[in-house]
Amino acid sequence: MYGRDFTSILDLSAAELAMLLDLALGMKRDGCSPVLAGQTLAMVFEKPSLRTRTSFDMAMHRLGGRALYLSPREVQMGEREPVKDVARVLSRMVQGIAARTYLHSTVTELAAYADVPVVNALSDDEHPCQALADLLTLRERHGSLQGVRVAYIGDGNNVARSLAYASVLSGVDLIVATPADYALPDETIEIARALQGTGSVTQVRDPYEAVRDAAAVYADVWTSMGQEEETAQRTEDFAGYEIDAALMAAAPRDAIVMHDLPAHRGEEISDEVIESPNSVVFDQAENRMHAQQAVLASILGGVS
Ligand code: CP
Ligand code: NVA
Repeated sequence: MYGRDFTSILDLSAAELAMLLDLALGMKRDGCSPVLAGQTLAMVFEKPSLRTRTSFDMAMHRLGGRALYLSPREVQMGEREPVKDVARVLSRMVQGIAARTYLHSTVTELAAYADVPVVNALSDDEHPCQALADLLTLRERHGSLQGVRVAYIGDGNNVARSLAYASVLSGVDLIVATPADYALPDETIEIARALQGTGSVTQVRDPYEAVRDAAAVYADVWTSMGQEEETAQRTEDFAGYEIDAALMAAAPRDAIVMHDLPAHRGEEISDEVIESPNSVVFDQAENRMHAQQAVLASILGGVS
């Protein structure tokens, strides 16, 4: 994967996805070597972040390189200067770019104009690095991903889309339960199902149907960054989609609870459930760093 962009899970084959997970698990177990010594990753973020920014920064540090955070106020991509100019300026000074954007087209435009690899650190459409960390967490729990059933409850958003693609590629059977107006678009489901992989993606309305037989129950926020004006409407529309004790009682007793964080307790997940022994949300958060190490070592360092 040396020199390639990672703007979407669709940039990976099933074999590459499996290789990244193996690499991440190996680095988590054995530590990292300084394969990125002398390299700098620029992190251009249009939205706030705790996990993604910290995990990219720490991953570069652990691989012997460094990360440079560029805040929205400084760069003002597309306002202070065109996205394509940001891409070409950064390409003259750094060896890689991680971008967190509103429009997904901003990430792909950066990738089109940059001479260095561009990694999607979340866009309105996808969150591919999160999906890698999620699969890593499932691998740690289940050994193999083949046939592992995951119930995603809530909004058919960026996190759900990347998870859908990654599930099909990796052998996970994903069931997405959303209110009618918040399902993943048919086009996304068609793209996911056309991928060369052994997993599957199914959409349903009823969260209770989704969690039956699930090995993992997954929540994300109902209102994503950039949708704040819709919060009141969304809170109304997602009623009945909270992962609470009643819903978990309908899942197998050993089903793990997943959330990409930040979580809104009392909305998409109850405090009781996220604090329960079945919750692996902080393993997921830590695995962001291990997954990113694998991505950066592969793309910037040629490690495979
Ligand atoms: N899960 C995740 O991407 O968290 P941040 O928004 O804090 O980076
Ligand atoms: N769907 C959420 C994920 C946050 C990590 C958002 O885009 O805000």
